[in-house]
Amino acid sequence: MTDTSTRQARIAWFERICGDLHERFVPLTDGEPASYIPELATVDPDRFAIAAVTTDGERVGVGDHDHAFTIQSISKLLLYGLALETHGRDHVLERVGVAPTGDSFNAIALDDDRNRAPNPMVNAGAIAITDLVVGATLDDRVEAVRSMYERYLGHRPEVDREVWTSERATGNRNRAIAYLMLSRGIIDDRVEQTLDLYFAQCSVLITADDLATIGATIANHGVHPVTGERVVRRDVTRDMLTVALTCGMYDYAGEWAYTVGIPAKSGVGGGIVGMIPGAGAIAVYSPRLDAFGNSVRGLRVFEELSDEFEMHVFDPDSPWRGTD
Ligand code: DON
Repeated sequence: MTDTSTRQARIAWFERICGDLHERFVPLTDGEPASYIPELATVDPDRFAIAAVTTDGERVGVGDHDHAFTIQSISKLLLYGLALETHGRDHVLERVGVAPTGDSFNAIALDDDRNRAPNPMVNAGAIAITDLVVGATLDDRVEAVRSMYERYLGHRPEVDREVWTSERATGNRNRAIAYLMLSRGIIDDRVEQTLDLYFAQCSVLITADDLATIGATIANHGVHPVTGERVVRRDVTRDMLTVALTCGMYDYAGEWAYTVGIPAKSGVGGGIVGMIPGAGAIAVYSPRLDAFGNSVRGLRVFEELSDEFEMHVFDPDSPWRGTD
């Protein structure tokens, strides 16, 4: 077979696997969509998508792979990359550590010894990271974040205005976290503006296809697999993947690292992106969540894939490890 037909055969094979998993987990209806942000409770709970993009730009999509949903906490990973690139590691580490907490994502808790937020994947850390987005006005800062998304996606994303408004109206716990950080000198005093930006970046609409593209860019050490553009610095992707593996799945992160072993980030919108360095990324969307805030079907799909196809990053027999 030629190179092209081998590649096509491989993609067709993976599409069949994703199709089988989709069919197998459609009947799984455990869990509930997030409702603490009222607008999120209005989504169709039965939506289900699996998408994948390889580092050489091949794509697979099954189910509702072009259905848009809000990115939610997956934004935390991208904003972390932006902060590292803009301000450098030392500046960021002064404000946000890298230790998993074992607490829920919205815990009102800081790293008191070091006077910083525990890690960038919990709300405290994500708000501190959002504080670092540069710009004179809210519009400038929203624009900075949107253009970052645009580079990852290859197109300009929309913000779901209803979700943004709903987050703003009900985000008092995030306000408490932010004002605690202000009182400790961790963030700047434009707190309401930073919170507004944080709510906006969580309300950005993406599809499972988009999410797999974002993940594949990070897995490709920062180069977009389709546009070929450098989206984020190579050394920064190492730090992004590390915190994804240690902190990306809320307080389930330790078990996830042990059983699935794929650097990943989930969001309460129902998305999970898993990144296999050098190979590509898989995205699952299904809005019914477990008690940790992770998509129930998403977890099952990743467990199966990791187990069946040796996708754990420390699997001694992994056929997926990239070399470049
Ligand atoms: O802070 C919130 O409530 C959301 N906008 C972020 C949601 C999310 O996915 C959970 N976070 N780790």
